Amino acid sequence: MRILVTGGTGYIGSHTCVQLLERGDDVVIVDNLCNSEASVVESLREITGRAPTFYPVDIRDRDALEAVFAKHEPEAVIHFAGLKAVGESVAKPLEYYENNLSGTLVLLGVMRAHDCRKIVFSSSATVYGTPASVPIREDFPTGGTTNPYGTTKLFLERILIDLQKADHRWSVALLRYFNPIGAHESGKIGDNPTGTPNNLMPYITRVAKGVLPMLSVYGDDYPTPDGTGVRDYIHVEDLAAGHLAVLPKLDEPGVHIYNLGTGVGYSVLDIVHAFERSTGVKVPYRVVPRRPGDIAECWSDPSRAETELGWKAVRTLEEMCRSSWNFEKSKA
Ligand code: NAD
Ligand code: UFG
Repeated sequence: MRILVTGGTGYIGSHTCVQLLERGDDVVIVDNLCNSEASVVESLREITGRAPTFYPVDIRDRDALEAVFAKHEPEAVIHFAGLKAVGESVAKPLEYYENNLSGTLVLLGVMRAHDCRKIVFSSSATVYGTPASVPIREDFPTGGTTNPYGTTKLFLERILIDLQKADHRWSVALLRYFNPIGAHESGKIGDNPTGTPNNLMPYITRVAKGVLPMLSVYGDDYPTPDGTGVRDYIHVEDLAAGHLAVLPKLDEPGVHIYNLGTGVGYSVLDIVHAFERSTGVKVPYRVVPRRPGDIAECWSDPSRAETELGWKAVRTLEEMCRSSWNFEKSKA
């Protein structure tokens, strides 16, 4: 397939591109490199032996995106490009709404102009807000997002649903990711946020490496078994495989919604201890007050994706920890 991957040099995008290249798809990446590096393109070639076509393009730049579509006429788009830091989105709501909403609107307009009506969208468990219960199923209500980042995902899901309602030829997959961690086994690509990490695993690996002094555990007074927040951590390679599994579904016009998670919740301290066990490296931590906007627990019921797509997360927590550490150690 000819597939356009927006945000393809980013964390999840790059792991998905590896699998697309490995199975022989023609991969075209557009990424403005605001949160990734062009060197990822070379890493993809080293890992797969095949090079994607790369354009350092901002998806809000209609003329540039138009030129990419005119040249490659993609059959489907996997749309990862977006800003994703929850805390930053609270401080910079306009930047988040502008980038994530305008970028997607431009992309959809260009897709329509080129008769490309198949899209896989990177959504998030954040669209469920504070769930009434866990595990979370796809038919749970969405809404009640607690930050502008999450609201962009909610709005974009709605825009895509409205678009499909108005023009039944569209096929839209809304993939609601839980918490991706881990890295490709080669150690050549992984989660490499610029600045101080917001997410748990990149923070842990930088503490383990000695780049940061100590992990702050945000609250140990949640109504969870050990008092720390519980999440559904999924290996990024399993998450990437979910994108390939949903592509055939796009032959059926409609809106296809899937949770991509493991169905198992681990606490912050479970992750710290699993990391220490898997790598033999200590992670000093202290407990600090809760982080505003965090919920106590969030894990998926991933059974719809297994039943309908034949997709299931298979990698263990130990593999997630070891590969994250392997990537951190491989970095310059
Ligand atoms: P990432 O920041 O590593 O990748 C996103 C990529 O998009 C980056 O390479 C960035 O440079 C690019 N980008 C941003 N704005 C752009 C624009 N206007 N034009 C072109 N490129 C642009 O993030 P990720 O973790 O790989 O996340 C990918 C997608 O998945 C995002 O939409 C994110 O919101 C979503 N998501 C991520 C998580 C997570 O925990 N990582 C969870 C749920 C959903
Ligand atoms: N945590 C810490 N210390 C840290 C970082 C995180 O204790 O330094 C805790 C958090 O309080 C939470 C857990 O670790 O309990 C996971 O936090 P992350 O920031 O790694 O992930 P979140 O669950 O907050 O959010 C992530 C993505 C969102 C996405 C969501 C989907 O950042 O984009 O998963 O579930 F929407």
